[in-house]
Amino acid sequence: MKDKILHILKESTDYVSGEKISNLLNVSRTAIWKNINSLKEEGYKIDSVSRKGYKLINSPDILSYEEIKPYLNTTYIGRNILYFNTIDSTNKKAKNIAESSSDGTVVISEEQKAGRGRLGRNWSSPKGKSLLISILLKPNIDPSKVSNITLVGAVALVKTLENFGIEGLIKWPNDIIINDKKIAGILTEMSAEINQVNYIVMGIGVNLYVKSEEFPDDIRHKAGSILSETGKSIDRKEFTGKFLNYFEKYYQEYFLGNNFKEIVRISKEKSILLGKEVRIISRDTTYEAKVLDITEEGHLLIEKKDGTKEEIYSGEVSVRGKNGYI
Ligand code: BTN
Repeated sequence: MKDKILHILKESTDYVSGEKISNLLNVSRTAIWKNINSLKEEGYKIDSVSRKGYKLINSPDILSYEEIKPYLNTTYIGRNILYFNTIDSTNKKAKNIAESSSDGTVVISEEQKAGRGRLGRNWSSPKGKSLLISILLKPNIDPSKVSNITLVGAVALVKTLENFGIEGLIKWPNDIIINDKKIAGILTEMSAEINQVNYIVMGIGVNLYVKSEEFPDDIRHKAGSILSETGKSIDRKEFTGKFLNYFEKYYQEYFLGNNFKEIVRISKEKSILLGKEVRIISRDTTYEAKVLDITEEGHLLIEKKDGTKEEIYSGEVSVRGKNGYI
């Protein structure tokens, strides 16, 4: 009901009486009053004047559906948003609700108490300064195709940045880099049978306003935020809405539409690795190589020191810049 009241207030430029809202929603005026108070506690500034009613003065910087909706033009991605002030991990939550929730459901939190990164690392972020989001997907595809979804997320992120006039680069397949600093990461998880995907959870953390000194000591030299690297303080709601729009477009048209070439083209155009000497860290070995290409399938083609070529599949290895900067 709170969402409906907020919607009514947002639609009106003038005061709306408690009576009108209670008639529209068919609930008591006391219920309206209680929900208005709860909205105020969330940070909404609502003016209440006797005999005139309520007027929304301004909205807080939060990433609820009601706040993101004005920027969304998707058909199903992000049309159901579970929004939390604090949570252990949005990926964990998305997995817990996966079976009972619809394709495209999104979990967002202002803070994570146990945010998870790739390779068992943790992902920490001060409250309200990032986008911490997980997208639940239920595609009817072969599990072998799933790892490529990470690249779709990365492409959607760089396209969103581009829309804000910011050049972000992709460190294949899951990191976004600005000025040699990682400003976003993607953790894709899935539940599958041998030849059927039950669901995929794509978790994305984007550092928007985190200051350099707020990153843990051990990653400060290689972590950054959009603000710290570009000086731009971009609107989180707009960023989130636009990101979901790009994600749905690339996921639907190019990934599910079997037109992966476009994803690969952008991945190459925005790649920070192409042509570079890198260090490949696989489960049991580490070796140096040169990145030659990203293949039509979205794999990384590398050339080892002995001249042999190899295709690296996402999820198999971790690729680091030779200077350890990314
Ligand atoms: C990485 O680069 O290691 C991936 C980081 C992914 C972090 C995001 S934040 C939202 C979602 N929930 C999590 O617990 N992790 C992902």
